[in-house]
Amino acid sequence: MTIDMRSDTVTKPSAGMRRAIAEAEVGDDVLDGDPTTRRLEERVAELLGKEQALFFPSGTMANQAAIWVLGERGTEIFADETSHIAEREMAGAAALSGVQIRMVVSEGPMMDAASLERAFRPASRFTTRPSLVCLENTHNSGGGRVTPLAGVKAMAEVARRRSCRVHLDGARLWNASAATGTALAEFAAQVDTVMVSFSKGLGAPVGGALAGTTEAIGLAREARARFGGAMRQCGILAAAALYGMETNLPRLAEDHDKATEFAAIVDRAIAASVVPPETNIVMVDLAPGLAAADIVRRAQDAGVLVSQWTPTRIRCVMHLDVSLDDAKRAAELVRTALDEAWRAMGDTSEWPVQTA
Ligand SMILES: Cc1ncc(COP(=O)(O)O)c(C=O)c1O
Repeated sequence: MTIDMRSDTVTKPSAGMRRAIAEAEVGDDVLDGDPTTRRLEERVAELLGKEQALFFPSGTMANQAAIWVLGERGTEIFADETSHIAEREMAGAAALSGVQIRMVVSEGPMMDAASLERAFRPASRFTTRPSLVCLENTHNSGGGRVTPLAGVKAMAEVARRRSCRVHLDGARLWNASAATGTALAEFAAQVDTVMVSFSKGLGAPVGGALAGTTEAIGLAREARARFGGAMRQCGILAAAALYGMETNLPRLAEDHDKATEFAAIVDRAIAASVVPPETNIVMVDLAPGLAAADIVRRAQDAGVLVSQWTPTRIRCVMHLDVSLDDAKRAAELVRTALDEAWRAMGDTSEWPVQTA
């Protein structure tokens, strides 16, 4: 059977989750409220230590609502150049909220307080006023890297010194918390709004939530309606998210263990260097001459789906529907694919960047 490691979004609702969906109590959430959605929102607000939370059909829409609420029209907002908000939301910040994104370029794998500080220009009558800083934790493009609490605090301080508000794209904040032992609420306390996603490690089919003050969430509700994201009997979706939080949140660290095992095996490949995983994502850098597209094809032929992240990097993601045995088997197959591709180039020498 094919092992699908393209993303943690590929999980299918389990039998238990499908039962929770089937049995969910529902109402019209736009008209006078859906009881299961209410329960989910209260649980998320409680876990994140925020006054209120609001259920969204997607994490992307929740991020965009946060930008609409916190970013002032005609100003600039700051985001890591490889963040989901900067790279994968179809210029939503400009199109929907009338702000421009100042891409924060970093020497390291992702934005930190120093690179954020450098991105601000001295205020003058020629510079665009900044209004918002967007963080991402864990960082997807950075290979599921965690920004520890101190790092989040430091970036939030830089932002506040510049009178900016702070939004956290915490699609995988669950993983950051599981990896560090830092409570979700401690991360959330540093920022004005935080988005969490249910459709990644928690295994729900769709959805995200935005949490913040009552005032911010009231405005986000308005934005959600404007973006066409207000839903009716969404309790069937909220039930899946609640089930994911109850059942799958406590086992997220298992995905991190799978990533560690997977990485150790793939790192033995002749011509690849694995970025040591901190959570559930494993990035594999290829030796010069190897092409990610070729490795993806070879792995697929061997029964493992991975994604091309850049022309020389592949991304492999652990999740609920990949067992530890699957992860080890997939790692051997990916390693073989890498070695075969290297030999096919007619070069049997060791690649100098070998780290295993
Ligand atoms: C870091 C990050 N933010 C936001 C999103 C968007 O979530 P959704 O797919 O629910 O729109 C994703 C999805 O992959 C993500 O990885």
